[in-house]
Amino acid sequence: TEGMNIQEISKIFHRDASEIIKKLLLSGVMANQNQALSKEVIELIALEYGVEPEEKVVVDKADLEIYFEDNEDEELLTSRPPVVTIMGHVDHGKTTLLDQLRHTRVTEGEAGGITQHIGAYQVEIEGKPITFLDTPGHEAFTTMRARGADITDITIIVVAANDGVMPQTIEAINHAKAANVPIIVAINKVDLPEANPDRVMQELSEYGLIPEAWGGDTIFVQISAKYNQNIDELLEMILLVAEVEELTANSNRLAVGTVIEARLDKAQGATATLLVQQGTLRIGDPIVVGNSYGKVRTMLNDNGRRIRSAGPATPVEITGLNDAPQAGDLFVVFEDEKSARMAGEERAQRAQLEQRDTKKKVTLDNLFESL
Ligand code: GTP
Ligand code: MG
Repeated sequence: TEGMNIQEISKIFHRDASEIIKKLLLSGVMANQNQALSKEVIELIALEYGVEPEEKVVVDKADLEIYFEDNEDEELLTSRPPVVTIMGHVDHGKTTLLDQLRHTRVTEGEAGGITQHIGAYQVEIEGKPITFLDTPGHEAFTTMRARGADITDITIIVVAANDGVMPQTIEAINHAKAANVPIIVAINKVDLPEANPDRVMQELSEYGLIPEAWGGDTIFVQISAKYNQNIDELLEMILLVAEVEELTANSNRLAVGTVIEARLDKAQGATATLLVQQGTLRIGDPIVVGNSYGKVRTMLNDNGRRIRSAGPATPVEITGLNDAPQAGDLFVVFEDEKSARMAGEERAQRAQLEQRDTKKKVTLDNLFESL
């Protein structure tokens, strides 16, 4: 690492060269972009970005997690929209609620009214955007949903007032608690004659979700997703919780985020829905997404409109990847195409080796079993 210049160092730490130069200046070190740096100065930069000097300073570029380290300069942070996940038991009304929020008819278009994929949408209330992630309510998607909770700032747990707390309601509570995400309870279907909101509150109290009216601190909103009752109140509560959480991001860096969904399209190749978490994603950005890589060729917003850039908490659909990543994969924008390709290829190779190893193990196990 000794003798590297700021240009090279900036790529390793995924920071702008100018930012590093500024940091060095503040520590009394004058340096320009192409000047070779001493070991001491490189250690100083490493310390600044939270890497222990004893550790190897050359960070593995293929290790995408390092780009998510939360060491943003306070003054670079600005507020960002909340990312909200709607969870709950099958048929309790998640899709109907999202649908009502978007004023579209998602439910009718779906096969059998069952959510087929994870989507993401942005809704604007009083000029403030809120990002919603749709999550299928079935057992088979538990893993994805667990991941969904990790990129979520606020969870809305929908409970049908005629049905009460069900197994996937409890699952949803556990996911939200594990991810330390604030919960808002939406008691849905209050329009039904057999609706019993009090029973829902009673049942949820056993899981530590106690309404404010009963001396607890959980926000409950009684809604009818189908008949558009109290939806505005629910949205106001989301903004309220978001305000308390003081959600911020640095929109002025290379983008990083998470894959919401991805597929291989015959005409377009790999298509991925991404949630930008930090930075701004732009057309032409060299990008590594899970074990695939490429350049952002096209970018659509949630309304299917072409856009050129997307800031924090914005969901976008992109093309330009060499392969389809998986939901929950991380993405990172690199400074140049070459490093993106190298990191992407390295990741693909590692994944292949891992797969081969698991296969080997399985065969060995089988062998022992048959003895
Ligand atoms: P999965 O995606 O299968 O987990 O279900 P979901 O939670 O998305 O439920 P969905 O929105 O598909 O609603 C299930 C059924 O409940 C549909 O027939 C909706 O019309 C109905 N429903 C949803 N909300 C309400 C409501 O507020 N009142 C009444 N009466 N029916 C509702
Ligand atoms: Mg649904």
